Amino acid sequence: MDTTAELEKTISDMVQAGKGILAADESSPTIAKRFAAIDVESTEEHRRSYRSMLFTTPGIAGFVSGVILFEETLTQTADDGTPLPEVLACQGVVPGIKVDKGTVPLANAPGELVTRGLDGLDERLQLYKTQGARFAKWREVYPIGDHNPTPLGVEANAEMLARYAAICQTQGLVPIVEPEVLIDGDHSIERSAEVIATVLHAVFHALHRHRVLLECMLLKPSMVTPGKDHPTKASPEEVADATLRTFRRTVPAAVPSINFLSGGQTPAEASANLNAMNARYPHAPWALSFSYGRALQEPALHAWMGKAENAAATQQALYHRARLNSAARRGEYTPAMETEAPG
Ligand code: 13P
Repeated sequence: MDTTAELEKTISDMVQAGKGILAADESSPTIAKRFAAIDVESTEEHRRSYRSMLFTTPGIAGFVSGVILFEETLTQTADDGTPLPEVLACQGVVPGIKVDKGTVPLANAPGELVTRGLDGLDERLQLYKTQGARFAKWREVYPIGDHNPTPLGVEANAEMLARYAAICQTQGLVPIVEPEVLIDGDHSIERSAEVIATVLHAVFHALHRHRVLLECMLLKPSMVTPGKDHPTKASPEEVADATLRTFRRTVPAAVPSINFLSGGQTPAEASANLNAMNARYPHAPWALSFSYGRALQEPALHAWMGKAENAAATQQALYHRARLNSAARRGEYTPAMETEAPG
């Protein structure tokens, strides 16, 4: 298979009706924070057994077409010794890998961050591919403040995302391009729309400059919502309308799928907002799906509490959340489904 055929096959395996992506690629400090919330120490064995439980959830492949892994997970195995990427691939779920190395302050741009990890990326991708990864993810982060993001921050981050995406495609891995505009702050939904539009314009301009094939990438953005400390919450309909208006103006129709991050929304909010988009815009040019971390895993983590005897409850909690987001992906989710028995 040539590289383009390989990319197209991965896209068609990942973009499927009623399915989205499970983000299980928390870095070491982030997973330690998630485990600390349930009083569990972040040992290698705890990370392995937790993620192995998630990936062996019976029926999960009906709702999830891809899973983003952290580097360590690529080389870990399930309880029966099967490598975790293979556990996913055997179910028809595409394994992917987070390849950025986290953020540092952007020099001479107060308040801005930029992500590290481009040096040696092509060699790392070749190795990850032999370990089963077929797509990659890179996240840039944009805090909203009175003076941020700045034009310099927006340009520098767009350039990083485009260089990463171009390298991925030359290696035959589908890039997930993730410009995360943070939900932190008390900004309005209008301000969020303005920032996200500016960021997406710059990202797609840079992707074009770097000759990234838009048909063979996925976009993982934030939804357009008010900041989490804003005095009023927006309804799912308001979020859907503001998000679609912004994305129609900035995201080319050639992009096959937009897989939103949850970014600190509650699991129910993330489902309701995605549902409103699909219910109100069934003819949007791209698939509107999910690539949730916290919004899929939070109930599962709390069911687990680090105890092996809670494995079935953990898997049930993940299954329930994945099923609800699959319904939201089709515009068929209702809040009443939240209280239905899991499963
Ligand atoms: P959240 O859905 O928890 O925001 O995580 C998605 C992700 O991959 C962030 O990089």
